[in-house]
Amino acid sequence: MTPGPVVLVGHSFGGLAITNAGNADNVAALVYISAFAPDDNQSIAELGANFAPLPSAKAFIFDAQGRFWLSHDDFLKYFAPDVPKAQANLMAAVQGPADGARFEWRSGPAAWKKKPSYFLVSEHDQIISPELEAWEAKNIKAVKTVSVPGASHAALVSHPDIVANLIIDAAKAVAAKS
Ligand SMILES: *[C@@H]1O[C@H](CO)[C@@H](O)[C@H](O)[C@H]1NC(C)=O
Repeated sequence: MTPGPVVLVGHSFGGLAITNAGNADNVAALVYISAFAPDDNQSIAELGANFAPLPSAKAFIFDAQGRFWLSHDDFLKYFAPDVPKAQANLMAAVQGPADGARFEWRSGPAAWKKKPSYFLVSEHDQIISPELEAWEAKNIKAVKTVSVPGASHAALVSHPDIVANLIIDAAKAVAAKS
């Protein structure tokens, strides 16, 4: 089977991943969901530096190894406030720690400069600033930006239809060209 063109989708830090993996020849489009979209050689710390820190920044708990997470209550409050309680409880329980060193990781050449990109802005995101997301969508010259009122950082759980439709739009545009 010949592998067809690929649409990469990244949520949150996944945006850094697709910004780099997207340089592969078979990647035809990028979809950023409430994500970071760094520039060439830019870290996430630098990308966010011009935007006011959110209240959640003070809520993250760090251990001695630099791993971080939110308390159960703060996860519900900041990460998934628009997700049904039972599901948000489950997400909080399995969140796992993230590696704080990632804020300093530098992107390689940014694939969004060469590949058509799509962006979903979560207007009530309390993990990544909605202002940063809206700015990124313009900065990467997104061919389509969907801005979702009331959506939290967990938009892909709370608004799966809107997220899926944006991915389908990207896939249809790729299919029309191939
Ligand atoms: C990446 O940015 C850092 C900090 O500005 C700089 O020291 C480094 O030389 C840059 N690397 C490249 C490959 O441009």
